[in-house]
Amino acid sequence: MEKDIPEITLNDGLTVPAIGFGTFKLTGIEGVHAIQSAIDVGYRLLDSAYNYENEGAVGESIRRSSIPREQLRVTSKLPGRHHNYHQAITAIQESLMCAGLDYYDLYLIHWPNPKQDHYVEAWQALIDAKKWGLIRSIGVCNFLPEHLERLIRETGVAPSINQVELHPYFSQEQQREVNAKHGIVTESWSPIGNGTYLLEDKVIGRIAEAHQKTVAQIILRWHIQIGALPLPKSSTPGRQLENISIFDFSLTDEEMQQINQLTQPDGRIHDLDPAVFEEF
Ligand SMILES: NC(=O)c1ccc[n+]([C@@H]2O[C@H](COP(=O)([O-])OP(=O)(O)OC[C@H]3O[C@@H](n4cnc5c(N)ncnc54)[C@H](OP(=O)(O)O)[C@@H]3O)[C@@H](O)[C@H]2O)c1
Repeated sequence: MEKDIPEITLNDGLTVPAIGFGTFKLTGIEGVHAIQSAIDVGYRLLDSAYNYENEGAVGESIRRSSIPREQLRVTSKLPGRHHNYHQAITAIQESLMCAGLDYYDLYLIHWPNPKQDHYVEAWQALIDAKKWGLIRSIGVCNFLPEHLERLIRETGVAPSINQVELHPYFSQEQQREVNAKHGIVTESWSPIGNGTYLLEDKVIGRIAEAHQKTVAQIILRWHIQIGALPLPKSSTPGRQLENISIFDFSLTDEEMQQINQLTQPDGRIHDLDPAVFEEF
C-alpha cells in the first residue's frame, strides 16, 4: 500500500487503505482513463457496483496499471434485483466475469430493500461466495441498525463494512456507533456531498483557509478523524490528487467540533432513506 496512506484492518483480517476511490459514472474508455489516473496518483481501494455498469472499466484499468493486483482492493456490490440466493451467486459470478477478475476483495449488498425482505439470503450467498474464494471480505451498504442486527442474529456473521451516505451535513453518529459496536468499518459515500452546496459551507471554508487546504480536503480529513473511510469520486487527476492529499495535517478538536455541529437530521443530499428506498 502507499506509504503515506494509513491502513485499516477489517474484522476478518483484510487490510484496506484509509481512503478509497468512488467510481460512480466513470464508464467506458473515459472511465478507464479516470480510474487508471486514480491508481497512478495513489488510490489502492476502488469502489464499484454491478449497477454502475463499470465493472469492465475497473477491470481494464487494473490490467493497464503497473500496480500488482494483490496491492489493490477492488469492491463491487450486489443489486436489489438479485437478492435471491441463487441469483446472488450468479450475479457475483457475472460481476467477476465483467471485470475479468478471479476475485473481488470486497463485495457488498448495495441496499437492504426491506420491503422485498430477501437481504438475509443475499447475505448467505455472500458468506458462501467468500468460502469458495470468489470474495475476500463481505459487507453491506445502507444497512440500518435493525438490518445489521438481523444479519448477525440469523447467520452469526457480521459484515466487515457498512457503506452509508455520510458527510458533515449528515454525520450518522448513531449509525457509526452501532457499526463500531459490531466491529464494522463505516465507509462514507458522497463524502464531499456529491460536489454540491456542502463545498460552499462558510464554516468549513474558514477552517480551510486557516490550514491552506481546500474545503474538500478539510471534509475528507474530518472523515478520517471521525474514523470513517471516505470514497471520493473525481474524473480529474488534479482533484483525485487533492482528495488523497490529506495525511500531512490534522484538524483540532475545536475544528472537529465546529464541523460536527453542521449535521442535520434531514441532511441527506439524495433523500434516499434505506428504510423505504428500494434499489433494483
Ligand atoms: N453504496 C451506495 O449506495 C452509494 C451511493 C452513492 C455513491 N456511492 C459511492 O461513493 C462514491 C462517492 O460518492 P459520489 O460520487 O456520490 O460523491 P462525492 O465523491 O462526494 O462527490 C463527487 C463529485 O464532486 C466533484 N469533486 C470531486 N472532488 C472535488 C474537489 N476536490 N473539489 C470540487 N469538486 C470535486 C466530482 O466532480 P469531478 O468528477 O468532475 O471532479 C463529482 O461531481 C461514488 O462514486 C460511489 O462509488 C455509493
